[in-house]
Amino acid sequence: MILRQVLLEGTRALRDAGIEGPERDARLLLAEVVGLSVSRMTLEPDLPISEVQFDQFHGMLARRAAREPVSRILRRRLFWGRTFEVTPDVLDPRPETESLIAAALDGPVPDRLIDLGCGSGIIAVTLLAEWADTYGTASDVSAPCLQVTGRNAETHEVHDRLTVVQSDWFANVSDQFDLIVSNPPYITEDEMALLDPDVALHDPHLALTPGGDGLAPYRVLASGAMTHLSPNGRIMVEIGWKQGKDVAQIFAQAGLKSIRVLPDLDGRDRVVCGVKPTR
Ligand SMILES: C[S@@+](CC[C@H](N)C(=O)[O-])C[C@H]1O[C@@H](n2cnc3c(N)ncnc32)[C@H](O)[C@@H]1O
Repeated sequence: MILRQVLLEGTRALRDAGIEGPERDARLLLAEVVGLSVSRMTLEPDLPISEVQFDQFHGMLARRAAREPVSRILRRRLFWGRTFEVTPDVLDPRPETESLIAAALDGPVPDRLIDLGCGSGIIAVTLLAEWADTYGTASDVSAPCLQVTGRNAETHEVHDRLTVVQSDWFANVSDQFDLIVSNPPYITEDEMALLDPDVALHDPHLALTPGGDGLAPYRVLASGAMTHLSPNGRIMVEIGWKQGKDVAQIFAQAGLKSIRVLPDLDGRDRVVCGVKPTR
């Protein structure tokens, strides 16, 4: 068997299973099996594929056909130009969260930040990697998430500036910070019923929804920000695209000022920011 043939068959198998973008996914999986980059693979159509590689590829195709995302099969995801480990315990990082990074980097450099609900650690680790003099805390209620965050922090060499803490939002946090960032679970109970199987079957339930209207974490984050932000400190949260008005109102009711709702690259509301007034 040669690469071109195996790729064609793999693409067909995924298409038959109803996977969107079957050729892209088959290429990514086969590239992993043969140990070449996707672009290099295009130049090697006649590369011989061994029986072991063939079996490994077909094992991956079966998982993808059962709606497991490619990033979960490969156990990694590219985010803001860096590769992060992804395990079954953490949310598969989403490109929309890059809007939160862009908004944070657009503001003043903080001395200290905290990422609440850190999951794989993409937000805290990315910001510390971008800001060489900043110290950070990453917290999550899930202990396995903290282990993944710790490994990603080591991979990107920010572990000596990052403290990880298991905490139900602010429960075990006593310090003050110049920047609070969070991408909390925000999918509503009604929306959960409509989720794509790639998400519903593979992302941890705890990472997706707090139940009800999806807004409960924002109330805790907004009131905690008034205690845990230093004067003029900023809070920035990712939101579901229909939640901008509600989250802005929650921030205002908590006493935050300079509230802004920012769009993602698709023009949908994605980030809400607020500032703790000096008094
Ligand atoms: C939407 S995921 C975000 C993960 C990661 N920050 C990212 O952007 O990929 C939400 C995270 O919040 C965590 N979480 C849920 N409830 C929590 C709580 N009560 N306290 C702290 N973290 C919580 C989940 O374990 C999950 O890791």
